[in-house]
Amino acid sequence: MRRFWMMIAALLIGVGVVYAQDDAQPGAPGLGDDYFPQLGNSGYDAQHYTLDLTWDDDTNTLSGTVTMDATAAHDLSAFNLDFLGFDIDAVTVNGETASFSRDGRELTVTPAEALANSEAFSTSVTYSGVPGKGVQDFYDTFARGWTRYDDGVYVASEPNGSAFWYPVNDHPLDKATYTFVITVPQPYLVAANGLLTNTTEDGDSVTYTWETTYPLASYLVTVNIGDFMVEKNQTEAGVPIRNYFPQEIFQQSIITFSPTPKMVDFFSETFGPYPFEAYGVVVANRNLGFALETQTLSLFGRNAALGGRGSEDVIAHELAHQWFGNSVSLAEWKDIWLNEGFATYASALWFEDKYGREALDNYMRDTYLALANPVFGPRFIAPGDPPKTDLFNGGVYIRGAWVLHALRLRVGDDPFFDILRTYYDRFKYGNATTDDFIGVAEEISGEPLDELFNAWLYADTVPAVPEMNLKPMLSD
Ligand code: ARG
Ligand code: ZN
Repeated sequence: MRRFWMMIAALLIGVGVVYAQDDAQPGAPGLGDDYFPQLGNSGYDAQHYTLDLTWDDDTNTLSGTVTMDATAAHDLSAFNLDFLGFDIDAVTVNGETASFSRDGRELTVTPAEALANSEAFSTSVTYSGVPGKGVQDFYDTFARGWTRYDDGVYVASEPNGSAFWYPVNDHPLDKATYTFVITVPQPYLVAANGLLTNTTEDGDSVTYTWETTYPLASYLVTVNIGDFMVEKNQTEAGVPIRNYFPQEIFQQSIITFSPTPKMVDFFSETFGPYPFEAYGVVVANRNLGFALETQTLSLFGRNAALGGRGSEDVIAHELAHQWFGNSVSLAEWKDIWLNEGFATYASALWFEDKYGREALDNYMRDTYLALANPVFGPRFIAPGDPPKTDLFNGGVYIRGAWVLHALRLRVGDDPFFDILRTYYDRFKYGNATTDDFIGVAEEISGEPLDELFNAWLYADTVPAVPEMNLKPMLSD
């Protein structure tokens, strides 16, 4: 009704624009994620980011301009980006100065003129500062985004670290393509997502341009600066591989990561074609207590590159995330088992392919014994709904993998792999929920599977597996 009178008023004054502007609403400062309600923003759909940033190695200062091309999702009077720290010099919308305000993680941008529904627009934020400085209070997960270490920089942001270094719609529901234009002092190299498309030297500095044309969730964005040497390779099926290794451990890294091309082809046959323009890994010359499946370029620490127990497992794990997590992304962080359970099971599948069914059975039996152990078992939570402060609990990984193995034992091998492939194909480059996966499993197997999924995803006690003669050892 209000709309009607405003339209009449607008017609009467003869200024149609007045209507659009008066009716424009600000976007919401979050996307309604149960666990991280402030992550992401509504009101627009990000299409492409251009990160044009210069890094100073003495001070770890980052400065430059980040531009987001987006489409308005309704008549839009103001919108938010997630961004923490830095001094902002200017914000523009479509080239015109926009006003802005900041409140915690939220940067609110008010364009001079409201944007119309479906309008494509471009907004730029020019800023400088030391990433993370003054905003440590917002460190509520392990993710810090841009991280300086002795020999360079790595970026690890899962789930909410991206806003610590660039302004972004920080939720996997709003993926976008990216161009990175990163200037560093010589002789550093830069490795980011996608393909290196240009290198320009200018005196003491070099600018590296990287681009990816596939949808990329913000937490999977990575920029690495270091004293790297590059190993180039190709899988038999033709997927380009480029690995960025520290010079100091180049030879050893080549050996450690040598199974990668075969793994890429194996997962491509098992799940569906490799989803992106290239794959490879970057190794930070520092020990890390984690690895991360940053898209097209998984990140590992020096300790992983030096090999040792479990490194092949984690190499397969991060690679498998390119399908599950990166191409098919979660829609809500509480569904993290869709990433970690799948990637963990994918490692077991790799060992099954390499060494036979017994290797898989052993892998699954070992993890079951951990889950069922009366002393340590209770540390592993049920994977379906982990506490938000414990998203990466071991239970999300190993019991998450068991959700899949229990499904396989129930429906049989052929339907099981059909389920994986169909789920992947249906949701690739997008987002999926636990219900989406259960839906595909029931559709293909033709049987109701609620009970199985509920028990494995949510029950306090790990279910028994009569097929493998496994049952929980209760302490009482
Ligand atoms: N997605 C990462 C993985 O592949 C998880 C990293 C979590 N790291 C941590 N320190 N909690 O497992
Ligand atoms: Zn993982």
